[in-house]
Amino acid sequence: ETAIWARLPYGRLVVISVINSTNQYLIDRIGILEPGDVCTAEYQTQGRGRRGRKWLSPFGKNIYLSIYWRFEQGQSATSGLSIMVGIVIAEMLQRLGFEGVRVKWPNDIYLNNSKLAGILLEITGQVGNVIHFVIGVGMNLNMPGSASDMIDQDWINLQEVGITIDRNALVAELINTLRQTLQQFERDGFAPFVNRWQSLDNFYNCPVKLIIGNQEIRGISSGINTNGALLLEQDGEYHAYSDGDISLRLA
Ligand code: ATP
Ligand code: BTN
Repeated sequence: ETAIWARLPYGRLVVISVINSTNQYLIDRIGILEPGDVCTAEYQTQGRGRRGRKWLSPFGKNIYLSIYWRFEQGQSATSGLSIMVGIVIAEMLQRLGFEGVRVKWPNDIYLNNSKLAGILLEITGQVGNVIHFVIGVGMNLNMPGSASDMIDQDWINLQEVGITIDRNALVAELINTLRQTLQQFERDGFAPFVNRWQSLDNFYNCPVKLIIGNQEIRGISSGINTNGALLLEQDGEYHAYSDGDISLRLA
């Protein structure tokens, strides 16, 4: 093993040129990790999204980054976690000047109505009440246009909107933001984040369909509840959708 870990104020950082998946890199080393350890790579040969879907991860100044953490409160405490990570990354990008940044339930960051970044939370083990997990963030900075052949939805590069931003600076911001957020989540849980969702929600009050397996459910996208479940208004009633393989699309 030749990788060199740099010590951070909390956790460590390893920068790799090519790897199957930064999430997998950490998962494979779970026994030697400290909370806050981060892996970032130039490109991934098997970048992944939810449920075995692919995350296109070519070489060329995109961000592929994962952070390891553990919680002592068991798995139920993690509901809302990937929602929360979406919120803080969107807010971070807004602070940096990217005004068109929004979130899409449950795990995407949107810019100008197109997918900019995705978040993948993977729970990698539980001992007693302690759960171990990895949160991965993939963000397009200058994905080649030819990627459109491979990505079956609208997507965008951060650098398309005319603000110059250095990738390494962004990675540093991202690491700080993730660590702070995970620490805050440990202290205060998800509740403080619920109210921050609505103004960022790209589809708030929009007619949408939820694709659940081969089923389609239509309604008005109406924010999230205190567990991070999606609220859908259907015939004047609100229904919460949370688990499983749900994809949200405009209706
Ligand atoms: P949801 O919309 O609910 O997030 P999804 O269809 O986006 O579901 P995910 O598993 O979240 O599925 O993300 C994987 C999908 O993201 C792929 O099927 C592809 O459509 C898209 N995708 C893959 N690579 C990229 C990329 N680099 N940038 C933007 N989108 C990508
Ligand atoms: C999604 O929208 O489905 C989430 C995509 C998450 C991609 C990131 S890139 C870094 C980390 N490593 C992976 O293999 N996936 C995540």
